[in-house]
Amino acid sequence: MVYEHDVLVVGAGLSGLRTAIELSDEYDVAVLTKVHPLRSHSVAAQGGINASLGEDDSWEAHAFDTVKGADYLADQDAVEVLTKNATSAVIENEHWGTAFSRKGDGSLAQRPFGGAMFPRTCYAADRTGHNLLHTTFEQALRKAVKIYSEWFVTSLVADKDGIFGLTAFSLATGQVDGFCSSAVVLATGGFGRVFGKSTNAIINTGDGCALALNSGVPLKDMEFVQFHPTTLFGSNILMTEGARGEGGHLKNSEGKRFMEDYAPDQMELAPRDIVARAIRTEIREGRGVENEYVHLDVRHLGETKIKERLPGIREICIHFAGLDPIEEPIPVQPGQHYSMGGIDCDKEGTTKLPGLFAVGETSCMSVHGANRLGGNSLLETLVFGHVVGKRVGEYLENQRRRSNKEVEEAVFDIRQNLQSLVMREEGELMSSVRMEMNAVMDEKAGVFRNEEDLQQALAEIRDLGQRFDRAALGQTDERFNYALIRALELKNMLDIAEVIVLGAIHRKESRGAHWREDYPERNDTDYLKHTLVTKEDDELKVSYSPVTLGQFEVKERSY
Ligand code: FUM
Repeated sequence: MVYEHDVLVVGAGLSGLRTAIELSDEYDVAVLTKVHPLRSHSVAAQGGINASLGEDDSWEAHAFDTVKGADYLADQDAVEVLTKNATSAVIENEHWGTAFSRKGDGSLAQRPFGGAMFPRTCYAADRTGHNLLHTTFEQALRKAVKIYSEWFVTSLVADKDGIFGLTAFSLATGQVDGFCSSAVVLATGGFGRVFGKSTNAIINTGDGCALALNSGVPLKDMEFVQFHPTTLFGSNILMTEGARGEGGHLKNSEGKRFMEDYAPDQMELAPRDIVARAIRTEIREGRGVENEYVHLDVRHLGETKIKERLPGIREICIHFAGLDPIEEPIPVQPGQHYSMGGIDCDKEGTTKLPGLFAVGETSCMSVHGANRLGGNSLLETLVFGHVVGKRVGEYLENQRRRSNKEVEEAVFDIRQNLQSLVMREEGELMSSVRMEMNAVMDEKAGVFRNEEDLQQALAEIRDLGQRFDRAALGQTDERFNYALIRALELKNMLDIAEVIVLGAIHRKESRGAHWREDYPERNDTDYLKHTLVTKEDDELKVSYSPVTLGQFEVKERSY
């Protein structure tokens, strides 16, 4: 079967849905998603969304904080789009019905977040993503956006002149089908599950990045992986930065607020890269609790505030750690949280493959540079969903649908590939390959990196790639074959892991979230540039592209 639409959006989180909504008045747009839209990872975002609503605040101040937080690797023209459009994006969602928390006078409440000069983060208690996603999904339903739920995209179909469409299989039937369109927008979110300790949902496997990479589109700045400072020890569930924004303290085993040694002015509200390194340093130097974590202490905020502003955090602590933060400090450690890198595209989502666009965490425009500020990712989804949707609309105005033949042929090939994968019954289980990949990435490509670890990681990831090719699926069912999805995701993640490590090896400096113990200084002379990794003839090639500078001069970064 071949389905036809003007444009296909892959991913039904905030970026994908917002893009689809923008296109829906004029075009036949369909969204393919491997889970129900409301299970997309946007739903898990907690602390908030930035907009310069405050009297003394401005888009320029927001832009400056973003560029400085990014350790000057962000493209300043893209940051301008992000910050100038922040207020309208938030207000639009408020008008759609998002239940933002409010001040006594009824205006939107804003909390302080890391690396920001003003309290700029709007929030819905500590369930901001949940609220935004439900509201945005309602709008997509209202606009009658066609949604293919529980479809996994297996390949993009394209030649050098552009996109023909894609192939995908339905989890419910196991059937591979073709989808023809003039444009495809990748909005598949991050790749956090390449790491073991991650706040990300199990679905965050970098599928969009892998699809782009395998279609000859470069991935950009993939070595810049964000480690959120405060994830719950044991499960690594996010403990929102909002907890520190509301006044929570970080304490080591001696009960000391150790951030005074690392960022004396901003303390707990320094940017995430700095706080994550501080926590790891405390633990490494023997001042961690049980050598594993530090404490996030919110007890002094009091029961009323905790229940009103941090109800989700409290609930998670009770269910997953057996403690009530009203009475006990929360054990936290850094964990992978966000991908600053992604598919190389311009500030309208255009990639080098005609008809292929990217948006949200899977893209790299680059608004976050070497380190993203909290509250800027929800913002990115809404602002750039709108912008990319408009751009795709303009692109479609001049397009005629290309032939269906290429998609039909691709379906035939993919059916055969999947069939042989499903039938592979002998060999080690895919899950052991996946667990080893997670361990390698946690141990050798984490908060602190060095040449020896990274070279070992590269060799091990490549070896795991070969083991994957011989591993068994362990489930031959045609319908609801979750093992098949896990295997395809693993293949994608092995590709991504190799790109991350390669970028990290080549970047011999420390900048933002990429910290090389053997090159502890930022080196603007040699590395104020974006890393591009492209797959050519099955080989990964590294090259670079310039950073777009602007009104903010590149400076040393201190907090
Ligand atoms: O800590 C948090 O609530 C995360 C926010 C973000 O990643 O923007």
